[in-house]
Amino acid sequence: MTADNPLLEGLEVERRAPPCVLVVFGASGDLSSRKLGPALEALADNRQLPLAFSVVGVARTEMSDDDFRRRMLQVVKKPSAAWERLVAGFRYVTGDYTCPETFEQLRRVLDEVDEERGTAGNRVYYLATVPEVFAGVASSLGEHGLNQPKREGAFVRLVVEKPFGRDLQSSHQLDETLHESFREDQLYRIDHYLGKETVQNVLALRFANSIFEPIWNRRYIDHVQITVAESLGVGHRGGFYERAGALRDIVQNHVLQVLGLTLMEPPATVDAKGIRDEKVKALRAIDILRPEEVATEVVRAQYEAGWAEGEMVRGYREEEGVAPDSRTETYVAMKVRVDNWRWAGVPFYVRTGKCLPKRVTEVAMQFHGVPHLPFASGAAQGLEPNALVLRIQPDEGITLRFGAKVPGQAFEVRSVSMDFSYGAAFLEETPEAYERLLLDAMVGDPTLFIRADEVEQAWVVVEPLLNAWAADEAPLARYPAGTWGPREADRLLESDGRRWRSP
Ligand SMILES: NC(=O)c1ccc[n+]([C@@H]2O[C@H](COP(=O)([O-])OP(=O)(O)OC[C@H]3O[C@@H](n4cnc5c(N)ncnc54)[C@H](OP(=O)(O)O)[C@@H]3O)[C@@H](O)[C@H]2O)c1
Repeated sequence: MTADNPLLEGLEVERRAPPCVLVVFGASGDLSSRKLGPALEALADNRQLPLAFSVVGVARTEMSDDDFRRRMLQVVKKPSAAWERLVAGFRYVTGDYTCPETFEQLRRVLDEVDEERGTAGNRVYYLATVPEVFAGVASSLGEHGLNQPKREGAFVRLVVEKPFGRDLQSSHQLDETLHESFREDQLYRIDHYLGKETVQNVLALRFANSIFEPIWNRRYIDHVQITVAESLGVGHRGGFYERAGALRDIVQNHVLQVLGLTLMEPPATVDAKGIRDEKVKALRAIDILRPEEVATEVVRAQYEAGWAEGEMVRGYREEEGVAPDSRTETYVAMKVRVDNWRWAGVPFYVRTGKCLPKRVTEVAMQFHGVPHLPFASGAAQGLEPNALVLRIQPDEGITLRFGAKVPGQAFEVRSVSMDFSYGAAFLEETPEAYERLLLDAMVGDPTLFIRADEVEQAWVVVEPLLNAWAADEAPLARYPAGTWGPREADRLLESDGRRWRSP
């Protein structure tokens, strides 16, 4: 690959961003300094950003270019020389998004950056601000012609953070507004879970191996458990969380994306169209709950005071910014049925929650038990059905659980684990999700971003739950912080003769 930076000559770089400007709306915020800044620094260190690159921050907070540059240097403990060199060219626009002057000023700054840095009129706009202003910013970009390439061959893209709407209707509305100024192929809707290496490894495991795909179906799999557990409570984000809840915050996006990758048919090609076509087909095969099923197939709950991460934590309703009579769920467990040939009759149990015993995300495929155990009675008491567990975070890897003979004179069988650990198998550093996704957006690879039809279908799946809960038609259970959720969630599986794994 040729390098326009003399320092890079002769060095092999896997993928590099083309000359471009990243315009960050909400550059004064948490996401910008905690995730985007460090991700850009890592890309700069890996020589994946050209010298013809700049960031233009936009927000209402008063800052000079130098203030913003200082802030961007502070996103990492020890900024590298490569990062310092890039940051020196960053710019900042102070302004309100309802004010046309903000966008006129932005245009002037972008023109100057093109001139000074050679960024060629290429733009990636990033909505790293509160969702209430997503539509307004996109429309203003359109009204000021900033949605159009400045010259032939240049690209203009818009990265949209989650949440994408609050329900089916508002996500439709947001899409309509975005589409007034941007084509679908210019839109990059982020679900940072898809940027995680181990989530992408679900594809590698399934489609690069001949041994897993033949058993990836109802004939061999009894059921699947997907767990997205967080050990912390809402902390200072109670006000935000009150308006979201676990269903909107985690299930509608992360859980359904992981589920989609698990369910989908093999794509003809692993590219944006191939993957997203199959994923949306899989989401469409999910059985939509009838209103009366919500109370029996779904459990929602809130944490009460208890111990989490070795500390006594207060209950959700006592958290700062949370109403004392709040009905917002911090936990969801749900049984998902899939109506297609591959998965008919295989339940997918998903659960997510805050203040659970540990932070862990995993997909556990549990296989049928053997039809007959030819051992003496009691010999296989310690044997569980086979399971293949995809550990997404932390401790990324794959575990296969199978039965083995316990050493000794007696013939006793017990379950053991065969482990693959990412960290031990590969010396390469795993890039953070935002590194991967930022580079993808700059390179123009939308494979790991969510297409409009996927977002819509994900809202269709959760809509009956939102409606039932808004009408308070389903009970709200409680669980002590630091436990694996309410008894009701255990009963959801027990009534099917199954139980939750302990991750
Ligand atoms: N933080 C994370 O780790 C994280 C993770 C995943 C997704 N996200 C998503 O990323 C986006 C940004 O998150 P964040 O945590 O960075 O949010 P944030 O810190 O609360 O807000 C970002 C910036 O938005 C601006 N802002 C706040 N209220 C505004 C309003 N009413 N009108 C215009 N601007 C307003 C503020 O800048 P000024 O006041 O200076 O204009 C603020 O610095 C959200 O959509 C969030 O869901 C965040």
